[in-house]
Amino acid sequence: MDLAALRVEAEGCTSCRLAETRTHVVFGTGSPTARVMFVGEAPGKHEDEQGVPFVGRAGQLLTQLLEEIGLQRDDAYIANVLKCRPPNNRDPQRDEIDACKGYLRNQIELVDPEVVMTLGNFATKLLLSTDTGITRMRGRVYPWWRGMLIPTFHPAAVLRDPRRMEEVRADFDLARRVLIGELTRDQADG
Ligand code: URA
Repeated sequence: MDLAALRVEAEGCTSCRLAETRTHVVFGTGSPTARVMFVGEAPGKHEDEQGVPFVGRAGQLLTQLLEEIGLQRDDAYIANVLKCRPPNNRDPQRDEIDACKGYLRNQIELVDPEVVMTLGNFATKLLLSTDTGITRMRGRVYPWWRGMLIPTFHPAAVLRDPRRMEEVRADFDLARRVLIGELTRDQADG
């Protein structure tokens, strides 16, 4: 199984009700050998129209944050917890997450990144198996699977409240330090 085959499988998926309302399956984008991976919540309107994650306003902010730590979008791999847009951008439902999480698990296994940054509550709670909210989880590096996980606010939450920008920048800087070898798994304090 490679990412291309997994994409084909996802594009034919009918495992949950979102298959009935989506325009496109939004599988993921970026380098298949990326050292850093971003996991958001679910596609929005623009992503559903284009079939590409994080292309709307939140996506532009994500691209900016990446560039601030010296990365281009293509250096990273970008995906979401849900591959299909929930109608009217409502929250993902438990059964939708359960139906979809195998795709994300396989994407992470195939890309095998050193750092995963979870954007917002849904990705953080799923990947760290926690009920604790993002405000309390962020600001730290967690040793996770083969690498490290850094939770931060969702860029859409930063757009709603720009005061969160400073904290998000601090979290992205943790990723930068991991990537240059300044922070190691042993020092991760999750
Ligand atoms: N918000 C997300 O969580 N993912 C996207 O792809 C776009 C907006």
